[in-house]
Amino acid sequence: MGRWPALKRRFLYADPRQYWTLRGGDDYFREQEGQRTRTERAEWIAGRIASYRPGSILEVGCGYGKQLREIRRRIDVSMVGIDFSPTQLRRGREYLDGLDRIALVLASGAEIPFPDRSFDLVLTSAVILHNPPDAAERIRREVIRVCRRFAAHNEDTDVSYNRFGYDTAAWYRAAGLPLAESGPIAIDPEPPHSQFCVAEPWRR
Ligand SMILES: C[S@@+](CC[C@H](N)C(=O)[O-])C[C@H]1O[C@@H](n2cnc3c(N)ncnc32)[C@H](O)[C@@H]1O
Repeated sequence: MGRWPALKRRFLYADPRQYWTLRGGDDYFREQEGQRTRTERAEWIAGRIASYRPGSILEVGCGYGKQLREIRRRIDVSMVGIDFSPTQLRRGREYLDGLDRIALVLASGAEIPFPDRSFDLVLTSAVILHNPPDAAERIRREVIRVCRRFAAHNEDTDVSYNRFGYDTAAWYRAAGLPLAESGPIAIDPEPPHSQFCVAEPWRR
């Protein structure tokens, strides 16, 4: 990361929650929905999630709910999305309108407001990478705490002013927690930075 990204991180990304509250909402929605590759990625991830046949799902950092809607197209299970950005959740309530058994809750991934082992599968998609190391660590531990069987992560490893770039699979390996799969997102044009992994923390 060069000089300008470092300065941008310091000033523009000093408070991630505030950043995502300003960045989230209609403009972000239009930008994301305007990219075909973004939808193809969400479809690919949803296919992998559905293949585990989870009985319930929590998505941490669900944004406007793109991933939740893609998953619902494949499996009809009860789902909860949490996000710390009220503008993202407001957009999400419109986007997911009419779909039952999907609840959206304003909360931080670093302090998930649910008891231990509440969800069969917990997903993060492009969320941990937006958090500085101490918050990223808290999120990973919270994910493990509230998940019953699977912890699934789509977290790229590249670095920018608002991306910290973590190797999530390596984190699970170092913690001695088993992985069901790990690798780049196969459909990505430039897979080296992408990573999708599914851990089974309670199987060790
Ligand atoms: C790049 S968007 C991805 C949204 C969604 N997961 C998807 O794949 O479409 C990142 C989202 O994560 C949320 N987020 C980042 N850090 C978070 C945290 N610590 N707690 C809750 N939400 C967080 C942001 O508000 C934003 O909506």
